Amino acid sequence: MAVLVTGGAGFIGSHTCVELMESGEKIVVMDNFYNSTPAALDGICQISGRGFKFYEADMLDMPAVDKIFEENDIEMVIHFAGYKCVPESVKNPLMYYSNNLRGTFNILETMKKYGCTKFIFSSSATVYGFPEKVPVTEESPLSAINPYGSTKLIIENLCREMYVADNSWTMVLLRYFNPVGAHPSGLIGENPVGKPNNLMPIVIEEALGKRDKLEVAGNDYPTRDGSCIRDYIHVMDLAKGHVAAVKKARELDNGCLAYNLGTGRGYSVFEVLDTFQRVNGIDLGYTIGARRPGDAAECYSDPSLAERELHWKAELTLEDMCRDAWNYAKNK
Ligand code: WQD
Repeated sequence: MAVLVTGGAGFIGSHTCVELMESGEKIVVMDNFYNSTPAALDGICQISGRGFKFYEADMLDMPAVDKIFEENDIEMVIHFAGYKCVPESVKNPLMYYSNNLRGTFNILETMKKYGCTKFIFSSSATVYGFPEKVPVTEESPLSAINPYGSTKLIIENLCREMYVADNSWTMVLLRYFNPVGAHPSGLIGENPVGKPNNLMPIVIEEALGKRDKLEVAGNDYPTRDGSCIRDYIHVMDLAKGHVAAVKKARELDNGCLAYNLGTGRGYSVFEVLDTFQRVNGIDLGYTIGARRPGDAAECYSDPSLAERELHWKAELTLEDMCRDAWNYAKNK
């Protein structure tokens, strides 16, 4: 039996593959390299010292997805594959709905055909929209505030409704907050194809001298220092959360469960920039810019349900995240 990891060459996917293999799991990986490169696959093998079957395949290619299940005994699926850039989704909602939804339908339909009923979904804190209260719990109201978030919420709703219709399913919905950092070896990390939109890859570009400016997107928010607060979580902690979710899915006969994978602690943009400068001895030249449309002032998690039920807790610090992110980027 193997765990199929869709999007396994991506940022969170590749780190999860390492942790799965290091915990003794057999994995099969599929990726179309839309937002990743084959170098990530080499890094996974180098770090874990183990090989795995890889399929360069697009989840929109139903025969290619079917071939993976035909050729392998898939016990469960961790589904990372999907577009994930919020601004891009605002500009091109059809592209996001078409890819993320049709691709997921293909995965779920093929799972059903082969009797594979355990699905771990890469969801996102974006399903909490603009949280009225922080920290957010799994019971906090759900809403979509951009097309990317809509695709995540629609897929979560589909999982809930599939479970109600057929109790043989085990659905585990993992809501990530702000993943940053890299494997301490520096062999894998965040390597966005094209122009980055997230804070840490932008900071890295600035540190590498590849940007003409680094802007704090607003310092007039109602927060402790005026900049937005987010729950940054080390990608290695996030990867370990997926190993815990695999174990949970395996022990369950069925169910549909959602978990916040965050640290429970919020950091402001200024705190991230200051920490990055301090631990890496780098002076970032940044200015204060305009607010980004759609940014919430504060969003951070209450991760206690995952701690209780997955026996998982984020351990690494913002210092670790900044150090590991830079260690990967400067050696890339
Ligand atoms: C973090 C903070 C910005 C760039 C998004 C998605 C979410 C998830 C993580 C996929 C914000 C500020 C940023 C810059 C800045 N992705 N910022 N200057 O927006 O919290 O979440 O990525 O699941 O779904 O919504 O993350 O890294 O884009 O921004 O000041 O040049 O950094 O305003 O407060 P975000 P982010």
